[in-house]
Amino acid sequence: MTTKAAFKVGEKFFGSPAKRLKPGFISAAELSAEEIRYLLDAAKAFAGPVAKGETIPLLSGKTIVNLFFENSTRTRSSFEMATRRLGGAAMNFAASTSSVAKGETLIDTAKNLEAMKPHCLIVRHASAGSPYFLASQVDIPVVNAGDGFHEHPTQAMLDVFTMEEKLGTVKGKRVVILGDIAHSRVARSNIYLLKKMGASVAVCAPPTLLPPHPETFGVDFAYRPEELLPEADVVMALRVQLERQNRMQLPSIAEYSRFWGLNLERAKKLKKGAIILHPGPVNRGVELDTEVADGPDSVILDQVYFGVIVRMAILAHVVNPQGLKDWLKK
Ligand code: CP
Repeated sequence: MTTKAAFKVGEKFFGSPAKRLKPGFISAAELSAEEIRYLLDAAKAFAGPVAKGETIPLLSGKTIVNLFFENSTRTRSSFEMATRRLGGAAMNFAASTSSVAKGETLIDTAKNLEAMKPHCLIVRHASAGSPYFLASQVDIPVVNAGDGFHEHPTQAMLDVFTMEEKLGTVKGKRVVILGDIAHSRVARSNIYLLKKMGASVAVCAPPTLLPPHPETFGVDFAYRPEELLPEADVVMALRVQLERQNRMQLPSIAEYSRFWGLNLERAKKLKKGAIILHPGPVNRGVELDTEVADGPDSVILDQVYFGVIVRMAILAHVVNPQGLKDWLKK
């Protein structure tokens, strides 16, 4: 089955994301190759000014709300940094210290925040599809910062940007995603983006951590890393997401680490020049050994660095699209 068929399954379940009615950034599956290229190029154009410490005032006078119902280190700080570097104001909302703890619903929370007249809602939530629901209820752009095991599109954008920076292009490159594919929003968004940009993708996990029929995503798959590592230009290691599993889907974490963890021995099977990514947070000694996470082929902190300029491009595009176009022409 082709990747196109896999998108149809998603469209049916999540209610036709292929037709975007409002500005926003919710799903990698709904982006065209041209839109992806435009945003990656915009991020690249921001790199120079940002490295010099310049502010690019495309969000001047705008307030961006970070509405996070799940924990985050990288994504929330990265969006906050991106907002500030665009001259905007970031407002952080943490569910644990809000009236959500008293039983207020997602939609009431979002409507109340919208009443304060911000210009964009960035949402992270444990329920797949919640950003679509919010986008249907509020009049400001919604950006998906991770919804359950559905998608994490801004993470995938920064991953592709990092691959391009390190390898020149992703077209024709072999990307191996290794880890808990079944529960990973990062894997899904990366598969959608990478295939649109011409990469060849393979996934690897124990059978219980692969989605049913992984071939419906248009990817190759294997149960053992040794089968895929020698051909990889990129290996993306993923965390075992125990918080999204109904029951332990592995005999033990120690067994996962022994057979699927990217340790020094397995990393030696990679070809010269191959790079190692991880979206974070890394469980050292489980999916990635410290020698590999901190080794010369690891680009994990580059991903975090590039994340800010990629999110600047996305925020500028959804909140001030004409301003971004005009700035890029200068
Ligand atoms: N990659 C990622 O989403 O990290 P955080 O959970 O820290 O935001």
